[in-house]
Formats: sequence, structure tokens, C-alpha cells
Amino acid sequence: AVTRTFSIIKPDATRRNLTGAVTKMLEEAGLRVVASKRIHMTRDQAEGFYGVHRERPFFNDLCTFMTSGPVVVQVLEGENAVQRNRDIMGATNPANADEGTIRKSYAESIEANSVHGSDSDENAKIEIDFFFSPDEIVG
Ligand code: CMP
Repeated sequence: AVTRTFSIIKPDATRRNLTGAVTKMLEEAGLRVVASKRIHMTRDQAEGFYGVHRERPFFNDLCTFMTSGPVVVQVLEGENAVQRNRDIMGATNPANADEGTIRKSYAESIEANSVHGSDSDENAKIEIDFFFSPDEIVG
């Protein structure tokens, strides 16, 4: 089924001017950008978005990193969008990411790993709603 997922191009990637390169890989993987905006996340947004990780040892550093520069938040649409996006992103830790994935190509570290993608249809909806209003999504 055609579904949607939520993506973030992270500060390590925007800093290196990789917004287009990352988006090209998403598009070549069969995903369509149906919403996109460049924002500088506030601390509150980062802490809210990553709330599920609040008790993890990397939470504080992660929120500092995600607010260290601009990000591009996107809604992606395609056949099995969540899984398709996870496949093209590659493993969270770039050391474990497959050849040809975004993280293998561009990630600097497990933290500065260039992209975020939703891990389920349920979380995709929550994450899309966190950053986008319905009128900003044009399918
Ligand atoms: P993301 O998919 O955005 O979800 C949580 C983020 O936490 C992850 O990508 C990484 O950027 C970051 N992170 C930092 N350290 C770790 C870790 N040890 N395990 C998982 N995620 C980590």
C-alpha cells in the first residue's frame, strides 16, 4: 500500500550541504517528498520529538546535536514508505550500514547519522503530526 513516513535530514548533513544529495537518494529509492521545510529545532521540540529516548544515556547529547543547526523535516510517500525509507537509510550506526545506504555514504557517527526515519506506521503518523499541519502536506 502507498503510505507515508517522516524523515529528518539532520544538522551534520545540512552543514555539509547534503540536503539535495540525501533527497536524491530518497527519491531514487521510490519515495516522493510530499512536504518539506527547513527549520532550526528548539530544545523543546527536540526533547518532545525524542521523548521516547528520555531515559537513554545519549538523550541530552542527541538534543544538543539536533538543535546545533538547521534540519529539513519531510513527509515521504510511497509503497511501504516506512520500510523503504529504513532500507535506504541503513543501520543507525554507520559502521553497520550497508553499502549504498544514506548513512553508509554520509553519516559521521552513530549520533551524527545524517537522517532520521520513522520506525512504524503508527510512529510515522505521530511524527508527521508533530511537525506538519495537514495543509502543509501536498500529495
Ligand atoms: P534516530 O533514528 O534519529 O533516533 C535516535 C537517535 O539517537 C539516533 O537516530 C541517533 O542519531 C542517536 N543516537 C546516539 N547514540 C545512540 C545510540 N547509542 N543508539 C541509538 N541511537 C543513538
